[in-house]
Amino acid sequence: MQVLSSTKDIWERVCRTDEVTFAVPYGVKIRGLSIGIFRTDAGLYAVDNICPHEYALLTNGWVEGEVVECPLHEAKFCLKSGECLGGPTSLPVKTYAVKDENGHVVVSLPSE
Ligand code: FES
Repeated sequence: MQVLSSTKDIWERVCRTDEVTFAVPYGVKIRGLSIGIFRTDAGLYAVDNICPHEYALLTNGWVEGEVVECPLHEAKFCLKSGECLGGPTSLPVKTYAVKDENGHVVVSLPSE
């Protein structure tokens, strides 16, 4: 888990764990948010799926290690921290606490 959940957050089940592979991340819209779920050697990560530069889904990008590269203009984001590591923006993406719970990916989302 990369981010601690606040007491106001609610854990939401988003997909089966086996739906997120190293090659194919999982994008989901839930409670008004677009979330990308990524699997790396270090585990699962959940980040905002929409690139903060323009509009592209990070789940359509490329993952190398713990970094995802936007498919449109190649901004790079750390999946662990959300920090932008290069490209045409310096804006980060929000990260969410995520865990595997009984074969399902659950993500901690703000309660409202
Ligand atoms: S839309 Fe992602 S870098 Fe431009």
